Amino acid sequence: MKTIHTVKELQVIIKQHKKEKKTIGFVPTMGALHSGHISLMKRSIKENDFTVCSIFVNPTQFNVKSDLDKYPRTLDADSEKLAKAKVDYLFAPSVKEVYPSGTKKSVKVNLKGLDKLMEGEFRPGHFEGVVQVVHRLLDIVRPTRLYMGQKDFQQFTIIAQMIKNLRMKVQLVVVEIQRAKDGLALSSRNVRLTKAKRKWAPIIFKELKKIKRSMKSKTVDEAIESALDALGKPRGYEPEYVSIVDGYTLKPIKKWSDSDYIVAATAVWAGKIRLIDNIILKKS
Ligand code: PAF
Repeated sequence: MKTIHTVKELQVIIKQHKKEKKTIGFVPTMGALHSGHISLMKRSIKENDFTVCSIFVNPTQFNVKSDLDKYPRTLDADSEKLAKAKVDYLFAPSVKEVYPSGTKKSVKVNLKGLDKLMEGEFRPGHFEGVVQVVHRLLDIVRPTRLYMGQKDFQQFTIIAQMIKNLRMKVQLVVVEIQRAKDGLALSSRNVRLTKAKRKWAPIIFKELKKIKRSMKSKTVDEAIESALDALGKPRGYEPEYVSIVDGYTLKPIKKWSDSDYIVAATAVWAGKIRLIDNIILKKS
């Protein structure tokens, strides 16, 4: 695997591959890689002639400065994992490389309110930062396919909207959530859970599955109530939201028959750690 730090160097390589009509898979990350990320790499490697992974802790998507400072930076360990997975290129640019004229200028995309619901309510400005950086990275890498995880449901929905809105020539591939044996969705944050909080963490996926099972016996509001209640029970646990939404618009549904694509999503505080998860309840 070759590690590249500058846009210029990466673009020379990409240009050459494009000339040879090779397909390019791209996996953007902020590092602190776990097996969820590696599943994205493996899928990209399988489906493309070569794979680029970026590691860039994007300052514009953090709405709390201390979160940015605390974000784990583990480039050496990440690099080893990527080499083992047989990723071709690791792109690890500086902030200056990604934003040469500062972080203010960003692409204008009509997100149709997708960024204001669910996570957007609690993390103002977050998705604007995500759109800004993914747009910039796509502009640098010009991949054939872009790989993102289903765990960040709202994130990939927003990026899909950006691609559509700007008619970008890239195919978005969404890879299903990777889970620990007990059901906890894999996340870089899991290692920061205390032992006691980690013990209870499987309750999140359990409650999401319970919502799916209760679609025949409960109303949408009852299902949400019941999940909120259960997720607030373990000591130090506090659900921020449980939303049952249309998978395309992310707007809350009132009845199970309101949409043919329904997703339940949640964010839960486990002590100081915020965990998110989701489940597709219906897709036809
Ligand atoms: O999901 C992430 O790790 C980030 O939001 C992304 C897509 C790499 C953009 O910085």
